[in-house]
Amino acid sequence: MLRQSVMSTIGLAMGKTELTPESHARKAPNEKTSAKSCPSLIYVKEPQDDWPSLTPGAAVESKVETSHMQGWLIPPPKHSAKSKDDFARERTTKVGWLIANGYLRSERIKAAMLKVRREEFIPPRYRDYAYEEVPLPLPGEEATISCPHSYPLFYEPLGLDKAHRFLEVGLGSGYGTALAREIVGAEGLVVGIEIDPRTLAFAKRNLEKAGYQDIVLVRGDGGLGCPEKSPYDRIAMTAACSEVPGPLIEQLRSGGKLIAPVIRDQTQDLVLLDKRPDGSALRRTICEVMYVPLRGIYGIQDERLLE
Ligand SMILES: C[S@@+](CC[C@H](N)C(=O)[O-])C[C@H]1O[C@@H](n2cnc3c(N)ncnc32)[C@H](O)[C@@H]1O
Repeated sequence: MLRQSVMSTIGLAMGKTELTPESHARKAPNEKTSAKSCPSLIYVKEPQDDWPSLTPGAAVESKVETSHMQGWLIPPPKHSAKSKDDFARERTTKVGWLIANGYLRSERIKAAMLKVRREEFIPPRYRDYAYEEVPLPLPGEEATISCPHSYPLFYEPLGLDKAHRFLEVGLGSGYGTALAREIVGAEGLVVGIEIDPRTLAFAKRNLEKAGYQDIVLVRGDGGLGCPEKSPYDRIAMTAACSEVPGPLIEQLRSGGKLIAPVIRDQTQDLVLLDKRPDGSALRRTICEVMYVPLRGIYGIQDERLLE
């Protein structure tokens, strides 16, 4: 079994730590500014899947940058040969597998996973692997669509539900926000932030094609959140940080929950924070995971990506 699946022991609480409001407010070592406003909302013209196209019949060789996916076995790119019906069958089977293996429990998350066509959020050359438990590369510098089980792995402990205001840091393919849109419904709000403009353009196109017009897409450093749309009931970070960025905790409403991969030595813990009325948060570790590193001000390296 793949590493993330092996490491993901559902419901296993590995420890609880009290976080004080001071620890939330602590600045990242390389932080220069505090979040005052939302990074600019995007306007993308004709987003492209800007990878070189495959010549039908030619030997397929990946030119895609996958060095950020070390530890994963990335299947070789190939022309998609599966039909809509093939994908529909695989989707139903996958949902059954997620339920049988304890990843998926709630009706709304189940319905969303049955409805959203994951294959439509994957570049054509990797599409046939849509329902396999492997992350797949996306256009952009360090972007992947996570394994299918990662979504209930995050959304079940979050208790993502109808009418929630939800923020995803690390939009990637847009698939996670499409699921969230289905889960929170018309009464809720979904905001997705992506730092890489190529990845963002890819997600925007996927979401438009799939008919999602009411997801707020933001180009920017997700470590700063999007204060204009706050407070959020639920926040998911899909890139690994060394500590949860303070602005995200600030933008979480009292009683809200945040989930994030947090780096610990050579590994990452999937951490769930429950924000309490006094501003502190209860921290619970769910399992070990493996995600691409967070970029930007709260990233591992100081990057000034947004001119
Ligand atoms: C594992 S992928 C996200 C997968 C996504 N949830 C999906 O459904 O496809 C992580 C994403 O986080 C993005 N990212 C990394 N650092 C970021 C930051 N500071 N702000 C916003 N996005 C960031 C990466 O570019 C990448 O697209």
